[in-house]
Amino acid sequence: MSKIALVTGGTRGIGAGISIALKQAGYKVAANYNSDSKTAEQFHAETGIPVFSWDVSNYESCEKGVAKVCEKMGGTIDVLVNNAGITRDSMLHKMDVSAWNKVICTNLNSVFNMTRLVISAMREKNFGRIINISSVNGLKGQVGQTNYSAAKAGIIGFTKALALESANKGITVNAIAPGYIATDMTNAIRDDIKEKITATIPMKRFGNVEEISNAVLFLADKKASFVTGVTLSVNGGQYL
Ligand code: CAA
Repeated sequence: MSKIALVTGGTRGIGAGISIALKQAGYKVAANYNSDSKTAEQFHAETGIPVFSWDVSNYESCEKGVAKVCEKMGGTIDVLVNNAGITRDSMLHKMDVSAWNKVICTNLNSVFNMTRLVISAMREKNFGRIINISSVNGLKGQVGQTNYSAAKAGIIGFTKALALESANKGITVNAIAPGYIATDMTNAIRDDIKEKITATIPMKRFGNVEEISNAVLFLADKKASFVTGVTLSVNGGQYL
């Protein structure tokens, strides 16, 4: 029977690529999104992947969302990809409290919210895959991203701790740390800064979405059963 995969932020950018790749690999995929229903409907029309709207930073919304997904997909979640994330870039000396809180809630608290809601069923089944999308900037820091880097580094600590808790339950918990990937998020970076960033990447280019979804497919697969607690960098060789 096909495994059920849920991808947060799964209708745009890296998340959309992950949802499509999982579907092509035979998973029953549900894609979560927050507010951009026009893009989500278009994504659904193009891929046939069911889309579900809720705010991953809010625990009660996640509770309702996960229940709806399980009901519609006909089972509990086997593979959770915590991908949803935003940026509110600003130098710390100019950052307002809302830019800090919004990024921590959306990028880090969401990982607790979603994982807390799927982990018990995984423990009962003795199978599960939690794949958390971190970032190169959680590993090395980035100008203008104290909030984002803190959240993405927090995800790595969460991943290691939960991997230990889950090791005897058939559940693997891993992170992927993408480098700069060509999406709307990185497209928003000023051109002069993009040039500076590209110069620091040994492969001298941004990555593409497929290069991240291939890593997700590996970690989701049964064949990765002895891989847990790791952070897999997919970043064109960026020095950490
Ligand atoms: N790499 C290297 N240097 C950078 C940099 C970067 N990513 N971002 C900013 N800088 C440098 C600027 O060139 C500038 O240097 P100088 O003082 O020598 O000129 C200095 O830092 C201050 O920057 P600004 O003058 O631009 O300051 P600002 O207040 O006008 O803007 C900012 C600050 C909004 C953070 C802007 O610099 C910016 O957008 N930077 C990009 C930050 C970034 O890389 N975000 C990643 C988004 S994609 C993502 O997050 C996905 C992922 O996981 C990789």
